[in-house]
Amino acid sequence: MTSAMNLKNCGSVLVTGASRGLGLQIVHSLASGGFSPGKIIATARNPVNTQKLPELADNHPNIHIITLDVLNQQSIEKCVEEVGQLVQGEGLNCLINNAGINVVADFHTVTAEKMMENFHTNAVAPLMITKALLPLLKLAASKGGAGGEGGMGIKRAAVKPFHA
Ligand SMILES: NC(=O)c1ccc[n+]([C@@H]2O[C@H](COP(=O)([O-])OP(=O)(O)OC[C@H]3O[C@@H](n4cnc5c(N)ncnc54)[C@H](OP(=O)(O)O)[C@@H]3O)[C@@H](O)[C@H]2O)c1
Repeated sequence: MTSAMNLKNCGSVLVTGASRGLGLQIVHSLASGGFSPGKIIATARNPVNTQKLPELADNHPNIHIITLDVLNQQSIEKCVEEVGQLVQGEGLNCLINNAGINVVADFHTVTAEKMMENFHTNAVAPLMITKALLPLLKLAASKGGAGGEGGMGIKRAAVKPFHA
């Protein structure tokens, strides 16, 4: 594990698309790992429709579930407000832009709408979410991590993209 991914001294991590798949697995790994972050913020567009995420949160009090539809700017802004209330003056240490979709189409069935939805979800949304959370990421980075070391690493702030 590189120093940038060492979760020791990492106060908070936000994972988008945590309802299932890799996002849920990341939340599970973070919660059960040796150095679990103080706050794991698991976002899902329909938390009430997910079963495994609330079950995981019941067993790990550092998991906080927040609603986020990455295609909806109002939802992004509401999420940022709730994250701000959760992390307070500590800011957000790590953002994992995991939510994404796959175009299920070939050359004959692909449409402009499908491509635009794909581009919006996988490229535009992570940019808008990162932009909206930047003040909280900067706040965490300015703290320099526990002990005020000030070096590069997740104990300050980091953004992880999941798309090629
Ligand atoms: N699996 C792989 O082999 C692989 C390889 C390379 C990259 N990736 C990338 O890794 C990420 C996760 O892949 P996966 O296999 O776990 O996919 P998945 O099982 O299809 O899960 C996708 C996740 O993204 C969420 N999502 C989709 N659109 C959303 C929206 N508008 N707002 C909020 N959440 C939304 C889904 O939420 P809902 O439950 O609400 O639909 C779900 O939680 C994707 O970005 C994918 O492109 C995956």
